[in-house]
Amino acid sequence: NQLEQLPIPLLEWYRENARVLPWRSDPTPYHVWISEIMLQQTRVAAVLEYYRRFMEALPTVADLAAVEEDRLMKLWQGLGYYNRARNLQKAARQVMERFGGVFPGRYEDILTLAGVGEYTAGAVASIAFGVPVPAVDGNVLRVAARITGDERDITRPQTKAAVGAALQAVMPLQAPGDFNQALMELGATVCLPNGAPLCERCPAGAFCAARREGRTADLPVKAPK
Ligand code: ADE
Repeated sequence: NQLEQLPIPLLEWYRENARVLPWRSDPTPYHVWISEIMLQQTRVAAVLEYYRRFMEALPTVADLAAVEEDRLMKLWQGLGYYNRARNLQKAARQVMERFGGVFPGRYEDILTLAGVGEYTAGAVASIAFGVPVPAVDGNVLRVAARITGDERDITRPQTKAAVGAALQAVMPLQAPGDFNQALMELGATVCLPNGAPLCERCPAGAFCAARREGRTADLPVKAPK
């Protein structure tokens, strides 16, 4: 597995370079879940103020389950993709009814909540509970494809599953949440898409296939829709 060399330098890089974000300073399941849903279609900078207002208005999963739809929609106004907000409330009610108001800590249980897919379940399980499962989003797929020189189409579910399995195999068991967030952070701030990766700042620069072979502009391979 070409990713074996990654965890130690990546975690060290993350400790020195992680952005200070509100859901990182207090990574409860509720905080991580809400932030990950907001971050799905919206950049970190834009999410910050929405997240702050949301947590002020609805500090617990019980508050979210009980809030009037109008008020919820006002809190979400501007973030777009309003089904995300409706699913949030549906999931909060599922937590109240099916899990006694306690956010579930098992990956498989988190995955049953409304609006939660494999990525979000992996992010919450690893960041809030320390469960060693991957959280593979577009940033993570790009980072992994470049390091390993993987030419498979990242839009295929099979590719995503294989990348997840390869990452899970090298997951540092003492820090799954940091490992996953470090991969996202590397993709968001260093291993940039298009022609602009900042390889001289990358903790994987010494063993990255795409960098070594001058292929960063060609990876990842993404089939047009
Ligand atoms: N994008 C989505 N979730 C993120 C996280 N936890 N850290 C950094 N970027 C992200």
